[in-house]
Amino acid sequence: MPDQSKWWQSGVIYQVYPRSFQDSDGDGIGDLLGILARLDYLAELGIDAIWISPIYPSPMADFGYDVADYQGIHPSFGTLDDFDRLVAAAHARSIRIVLDFVPNHSSNQHPWFTESRSGRDAPRRDWYVWRDAAADGGPPNNWISEFGGSAWSWDEATGQYYYHAYLPEQPDLNWRNPQIAAAMLDALRFWFERGVDGFRVDAIHHLFEDESLQDNPPNPEWLPTMSPARSLIRTRTMDQPEVHDAIMAMRRVADSFPGDRVMIGEAYLPITRLMAYYGVDLGGFQLPFNFHLMSTAWNAQAVSTLVETYEAALPAGGWPNWVLGNHDRSRVASRLGPAQARIAAMLLLTLRGTPTLYQGDEIGMTDVPIAPERVRDPWEKRVPGLGLGRDPVRTPMQWDEGTHAGFSSAEPWLPLPPSFEGFTVSSQLRQPDSMLQLYRKLLRLRRAEPTLSVGGYRAVSADENVLVFERFHQQRKLRIALNFDDHAKTLPDADATGHILLSSYLDTPSATSSVELRPSEGVITELD
Ligand code: GLC
Ligand code: MG
Repeated sequence: MPDQSKWWQSGVIYQVYPRSFQDSDGDGIGDLLGILARLDYLAELGIDAIWISPIYPSPMADFGYDVADYQGIHPSFGTLDDFDRLVAAAHARSIRIVLDFVPNHSSNQHPWFTESRSGRDAPRRDWYVWRDAAADGGPPNNWISEFGGSAWSWDEATGQYYYHAYLPEQPDLNWRNPQIAAAMLDALRFWFERGVDGFRVDAIHHLFEDESLQDNPPNPEWLPTMSPARSLIRTRTMDQPEVHDAIMAMRRVADSFPGDRVMIGEAYLPITRLMAYYGVDLGGFQLPFNFHLMSTAWNAQAVSTLVETYEAALPAGGWPNWVLGNHDRSRVASRLGPAQARIAAMLLLTLRGTPTLYQGDEIGMTDVPIAPERVRDPWEKRVPGLGLGRDPVRTPMQWDEGTHAGFSSAEPWLPLPPSFEGFTVSSQLRQPDSMLQLYRKLLRLRRAEPTLSVGGYRAVSADENVLVFERFHQQRKLRIALNFDDHAKTLPDADATGHILLSSYLDTPSATSSVELRPSEGVITELD
């Protein structure tokens, strides 16, 4: 471990989904001044950086992931002045700001696309991916959009198809055209100059498609209950070799600014393929998001194997990271239940590697059922009933017991759950053993203990139910023991003695380590 760790190594990232964090102007949609008003909450929580999902001008076909101007702010989020104020106020509290960068596609309302579709000879025609129809007049090949349906849409006026990995309203940018790369890198510079500390780069594994346009092969494991996009194995549309040069170009821009700017990549890939996203000589992403905790079976053995596999796969000098939830995936408290969500919190904040938390998980928010007439997510609208919709995890932050949970004075854009007693920030601040208190204690401990933030990791033991590992730094050793079961368990290494620093039960720790773990208990012990 380097002696001088970077903030993005020792720190903790918190994802803000801005539409649902805090509304300041009474339109039922969260905004930048809302985030600003909650900075003290975030500072007291103990996080180091916020990553804010897209705030750029957008028709909101995919709620901001369809960008119509890479260098502006959508009016419902505020203004560039508001943004500058937010950056200054966050920095004054030592909170870094990470923005979302969406390079794979723009909105179909972006002026670039308007121009591109204006004619086959338009100067910017080649900024997007246009192809002739197949012989039968249909799309050029079998590629399927992530949100269902063909990934090709027909443009009547110019008689060609354009490619979109996501919605027809999200045409893919053509990164084989150097002008696109240049224009997009300029957008990064624009925000870095405004003081942004880094970017989370959206859907990076989709940046290039196979130029020969060959079909994707069928996936024999696909079932009709699964996302239509999974019916093909996306060998021709994902993780193409050209992506790495594009990432390194983004990283060079980040490195050309003073301070430690960070580039974080969103790529849902198996561990072996993910490692290439650190880049040759680590010139790629400092943090290629590791999403595997969200998909691995929840038992001590499987999690232990995951950690070992990931640690062993890391390239020399590559820094690990872990993600427990985001705006696209079912909430951790719904996936695991409230008791195991506490174990997950302790795991996330004691593993080696930068943790990313998703807003609301720190109070144990669960997926909110959405009535059909309130559905907003285009994925759910296009492929209804399979549980693919992401609205349930994007509902407003539950701040207090007041009107609309303190989120807004107006009806929020997505509903609050019918009842959420005990699941608000204010109630959990009053309750000494709440999830929020657990998060605050874990974050405080991680900040105080280099052993946790930057120390080494050593597996001790794992059976079906109990995971034990150690973190070490200089002479100091901490042992973390997590009970994945709802029955009490005896620790295998009963002879390791020490002082309990924290139990996930948040009751008074006994002076010396106990050999018993209570049901779904996690314990951090300082070893003698
Ligand atoms: C990423 C985002 C997701 C979005 C998609 C298309 O996966 O996290 O919310 O819909 O990219 O931009
Ligand atoms: Mg608002």
